[in-house]
Amino acid sequence: MFGNRYLFVSVAIFYLLAFVHGQEQIVEEIVEDVQDVVYENAIVPEGTAIHKLTLSNFASFIKSNDLILGEFTVPWCVHSKILLPELVLAAEKLESEKDIKIFQVDCSIDGPLCDQLGISYYPSLKAFKNHRLLKDNEYTGRRTAQDIFDFMVNQVASPVKRISSEEELNDQYLNKETMDTPVVVYYGLIEDFDPIFDKAANDLFNSFTFVAYQACNETMSGKVVFYLPPVAPEELEQNKHTVRPEEDVFQFENTTATDVDTFKNWLLYTRLPYFDNANIENYRLYMESKLPLAYFFYIAPQEYMEYKEYFGELGKKYRGKMNFLALNAMIFHTHVQFLNMKEQFPLFAIHDLRYNMKYGLPQLSDEEYKAQTEMIKLDRDDMTALVQEFMNGTATAIVKSEEIPTEQHGNVTKIVGLNHDDMVRDPKRDVVVRYFASWCAQSRKFEPIYNNIADMFAGDDETKDKIVFLDVDASANDILSFPVTGFPTVAIYPAGSTEPPIVHNTAAARNNILLFIKEHSFYHLDGFELVKKYHLDDDEEEEAGEIVQDINPTEEDVAHDEL
Ligand SMILES: *[C@@H]1O[C@H](CO)[C@@H](O)[C@H](O)[C@H]1NC(C)=O
Ligand SMILES: *[C@@H]1O[C@H](CO)[C@@H](O)[C@H](O)[C@H]1NC(C)=O
Ligand SMILES: *[C@@H]1O[C@H](CO)[C@@H](O)[C@H](O)[C@H]1NC(C)=O
Ligand SMILES: *[C@@H]1O[C@H](CO)[C@@H](O)[C@H](O)[C@H]1NC(C)=O
Repeated sequence: MFGNRYLFVSVAIFYLLAFVHGQEQIVEEIVEDVQDVVYENAIVPEGTAIHKLTLSNFASFIKSNDLILGEFTVPWCVHSKILLPELVLAAEKLESEKDIKIFQVDCSIDGPLCDQLGISYYPSLKAFKNHRLLKDNEYTGRRTAQDIFDFMVNQVASPVKRISSEEELNDQYLNKETMDTPVVVYYGLIEDFDPIFDKAANDLFNSFTFVAYQACNETMSGKVVFYLPPVAPEELEQNKHTVRPEEDVFQFENTTATDVDTFKNWLLYTRLPYFDNANIENYRLYMESKLPLAYFFYIAPQEYMEYKEYFGELGKKYRGKMNFLALNAMIFHTHVQFLNMKEQFPLFAIHDLRYNMKYGLPQLSDEEYKAQTEMIKLDRDDMTALVQEFMNGTATAIVKSEEIPTEQHGNVTKIVGLNHDDMVRDPKRDVVVRYFASWCAQSRKFEPIYNNIADMFAGDDETKDKIVFLDVDASANDILSFPVTGFPTVAIYPAGSTEPPIVHNTAAARNNILLFIKEHSFYHLDGFELVKKYHLDDDEEEEAGEIVQDINPTEEDVAHDEL
């Protein structure tokens, strides 16, 4: 229905998932270019197959259905408007053919419900099975009716095709004429590997076909083999810049690995070429293979051709450790801000997706760049050295940070990327941190509440030396040790602890934060006592009226806890 535009949108959505929310604005810009948006409002009108749930009928609906998919959204969400026609189609087909229901919750009305379920972006699609929300059942696949349908149906049936004849294998799955996704065949008889194969299939069935075939053939049994589909001739013509491996059949060698991630990661990079030119479609695949990604941004096509072989060789050499991708700067120039680099092309940079760390070749100052009369030339030795340094752990990451503040106001101390790690660890005091984004409305709304909490603890002799309150604009600072995924996020680093921080995960409201501090601070500091002692309750309720209401759990809320 949406043709190529749909792909564009799905990449935009993918950006949203792949990068911290601080960069979400970019996505909005991209999406707003899309003209094909069909629904004016993301909330489904009456009379479709989608069930509308609210706080009052949510629990009973979950209890009376074994398998359901929920969409959590708000009326104005652009992504949801785009998704809605597909979701309606999926709901009709699922309900009529499989008796599986899809429902929708409007988080602008039932915010507490959405908070309770940990909804941090819209739309969130979550599957509930046997009356519980399953952790891995977040739907993150392509947002088409067919893919959503397949996802739900596969929650019931195992996505592994179990077959019993070599003929079936060859005719149906390994037939080059009909093969369109990579096929992974497990030929059986590997100790402890069955559950790993099943788990990988459950997670990745949208992208690969998983076949289990117990071969009575000595040469094949005990093997796991990956078959790439042939490249269509027209695609070969279009993508003659792609550097592909010489072969299209690969064997998984690490069958003694006992964790599913090793196997999944192998699948996710084995489908990739050694080097390629990014487009809307393949970019998603690189993001999914969470390997560090080396970017070569170029302006002129001949630049690409000049470096193609060089990067192809690096891609081959670092297979499984790093992917290499070229980006046309004319199209993707704004992407460099995710890499903390300036728009000076060509450029070479590495993004370590696991830790959101960025590395790049040095760039010119703005003055130098302006004065530049010739094209910048990237030195192969410099790039090779950066890759090697990255691999041996000696490369220096580029950290985005504001200046360390020279003066502080109030009882909340402002910190930045450069001093975050030093400031959050205190042997004697509990440290609470608010991670916010200046552009995020919810972050701003929470600020006075947070400041009041800090004032309260600072004003009492018992507590003032036991706890400190910090805040940091996580959209202007890279926090390498703590990747923030939503705003505002509150975390506590208990006094003396070297463990990862404990993250607050209910609605950002005063009583929730006080409870969180009481439970998780080293000293178990009780803010409710302070509220009582200083009679702070009344003003507070007025100030944060709407929020306070949300956090007094009703019976309905309590019932959801069991989800
Ligand atoms: C066993 O499988 C291999 C690889 O598919 C094939 O070359 C060989 O002919 C098969 N052997 C028998 C006895 O079927
Ligand atoms: C095999 O898997 C283990 C994890 O189970 C991993 O640490 C190791 O690096 C893998 N070996 C190879 C050769 O990829
Ligand atoms: C890391 O790699 C760089 C670049 O090749 C090299 O100069 C450096 O000596 C290496 N350091 C270590 C500790 O291996
Ligand atoms: C810090 O907290 C104390 C105690 O509540 C309060 O008296 C003081 O005004 C606060 N400081 C600022 C600058 O708000």
